[in-house]
Amino acid sequence: MLLPRSAYPHEMPATPTAIDPGTPTPFVDVLPIPPILRPDGLRPSPANSSLKIPYYRVTMREFVHQLHRDLKPTRLWGYGASVPGPTIQTTAGNPLLVEWVNDLPAKHFLPIDYRLHGAKGEPQVRAVVHVHGAKAPPESDGYPEDWYVPGKSATYYYPNAQEAAMLWYHDHAMGINRLNIYAGLFGLYLIHSDAEDALNLPRGKYEIPLTICDRMLDKTGQLLYPTSGKADAPWIPEFFGNVYLVNGKIMPFLNVEPRKYRFRLLNASNARQYLLSLSNKMPFHQIGSDQGLLSAPVELKRLFIVPAERADLIIDFEAFRGQHIILSDNTVPVMQFRVSNQASKDSSAMPHSLRPIQRTPEASAVKTRMLTLNEYDNDAGDTILMLLNATYWHQPVTENPVLDTTEIWNLINLTDDAHPIHLHLVRFQILDRRKFDKFSYSMHNTLRFTGPVVPPEPNEMGWKDTVRADPGMVTRIIAKFEGYSGRYVWHCHNLDHEDNEMMRPYEVVAKQPAKATQALAQPDWCIDGRLVTR
Ligand code: C2O
Ligand code: CU
Repeated sequence: MLLPRSAYPHEMPATPTAIDPGTPTPFVDVLPIPPILRPDGLRPSPANSSLKIPYYRVTMREFVHQLHRDLKPTRLWGYGASVPGPTIQTTAGNPLLVEWVNDLPAKHFLPIDYRLHGAKGEPQVRAVVHVHGAKAPPESDGYPEDWYVPGKSATYYYPNAQEAAMLWYHDHAMGINRLNIYAGLFGLYLIHSDAEDALNLPRGKYEIPLTICDRMLDKTGQLLYPTSGKADAPWIPEFFGNVYLVNGKIMPFLNVEPRKYRFRLLNASNARQYLLSLSNKMPFHQIGSDQGLLSAPVELKRLFIVPAERADLIIDFEAFRGQHIILSDNTVPVMQFRVSNQASKDSSAMPHSLRPIQRTPEASAVKTRMLTLNEYDNDAGDTILMLLNATYWHQPVTENPVLDTTEIWNLINLTDDAHPIHLHLVRFQILDRRKFDKFSYSMHNTLRFTGPVVPPEPNEMGWKDTVRADPGMVTRIIAKFEGYSGRYVWHCHNLDHEDNEMMRPYEVVAKQPAKATQALAQPDWCIDGRLVTR
């Protein structure tokens, strides 16, 4: 019998060949800033051939890069010649084209699990790019099955008809996405706007991206991806590394002036969640989340951030001249800020109100979906897969919102883990979270709440594209499915989960679907000859 997965340790057992996390000396490398990508000319817009729009070309390739002063160069895969790749920068309403070229080697250097969905019998090296948070037409969204092999490329169209926000691009190839992103296939995609510029937030050299991720390195500084120990089934339920990187360096430092900075933070980790704070306990402000500015700054002393989430922060170093301030995850150092002694002129602002954000009324939803998050163990207690709504990737589409309608999705987390759930195409708001009785839901299909309604945290009150679905809670989100009809995906952004079935296609349909597709049969399914019942 398949059992729901029980609690599991959040730290990996030490891999014998991994370096000791204490080995690299902290704060000896300068924080790198990913380069801004320049266009390779103009091309006609696919939406209007008389309009010429910027065309960029980005090549995925293998290279070596020194992750730390004391380590040998590390083999990486990246976009362009850096990890993170070059930042694509644009302004809201200005469309652009990117040709994503796959020039990777023919062999993967990380442990592929050929049992996983979409990996069976396929070439080792496959890639497809998704801009996380983009409102893009389906053919440019990087559908996981739209991967292509080395020597091929795809040109995607990004209308950028959305509000200013920090998005990010990353690989999305079926069944190997965790390995491709881990190898270094990610970068930033920054949309600015006139409205945002008018706020006079810190900008230019005072607006700095911070992409945080964890990696596991061996003694020669090469990337390790731990395996289950089974040669034919190397997949592991979660990856946790032994070193933290910011913008591709291990524990870097940044020289700052005693003034306000705007930091655009991304958790680009496969699975790790961070609880970030500053060593001198100074407060800072969060001004934006995944899909742009909040309505007003939120003062924080600690920031909790799960994979794929972004946080737009203002840190004011003015009162801390000469101090060295460490940014830590709990007690583990991530990076250091060195505040100069020299006075600095700061004409930037942090306005008390940033932009109006209308709460989407629940009454505007035409449909409410009940969607479970599931994990399964085998008899030996090994986790074998995770599912959304007890449904595999290859089963027919069950989430089929009608274009321009609003829906409420209840993410019913039957597991013992928090899962960062991401929907492509849309932005949404978090309505609330609430504890429920997992047993009565699993056994009798009845939703019985056991705790009070918990409103979103103040820094979750803006527009989101990724939400933390807490264990044993129902997390409710509300989204308007606007922009395009067509096939997209929603999934857990814990990359090991996503690669092992915790991802589903969904379809935005142009008009009301026929009855037959709505009343989809919900059969039982077999895993390794065992029955999984909804
Ligand atoms: Cu960050 Cu489906 O993506
Ligand atoms: Cu998950």
